[in-house]
Amino acid sequence: MRRKTRIWVCHSADLKEADYHRVDVLYSQKPSSVIVFRHNGECLAYRNLCVHMPRELDCEADMIFDATGRLLRCSMHGIVYEPKTGTSVSEICWGKKLTPVKVEEADDGIWISDKRVRPMDEQG
Ligand code: FES
Repeated sequence: MRRKTRIWVCHSADLKEADYHRVDVLYSQKPSSVIVFRHNGECLAYRNLCVHMPRELDCEADMIFDATGRLLRCSMHGIVYEPKTGTSVSEICWGKKLTPVKVEEADDGIWISDKRVRPMDEQG
């Protein structure tokens, strides 16, 4: 039986509204990263991979929200996404979705708990 692994992200208090943490991981055995952020008080996460091109949302700037703080924004060409669903609301790639990643917030901590996501040190 495959063991369950949770990947530590941070203490709950260290993830403020519209703030994010980037976690380098293996996603389906491939090096990747996950963005974990807080929106309307809720902790959410997606694979850090734009639907437009294979780029990370924070590839050009150390941020994932637009200037309003209400939409996620890819720093490469500016596609914006609805944070709760990960759906593109830009004309380009309209309706395409970021890949959601399961996260848990409990006991004042945040963990990635998605079976497709493994720690980087399991590589090789
Ligand atoms: S690669 Fe993200 S908007 Fe183009």
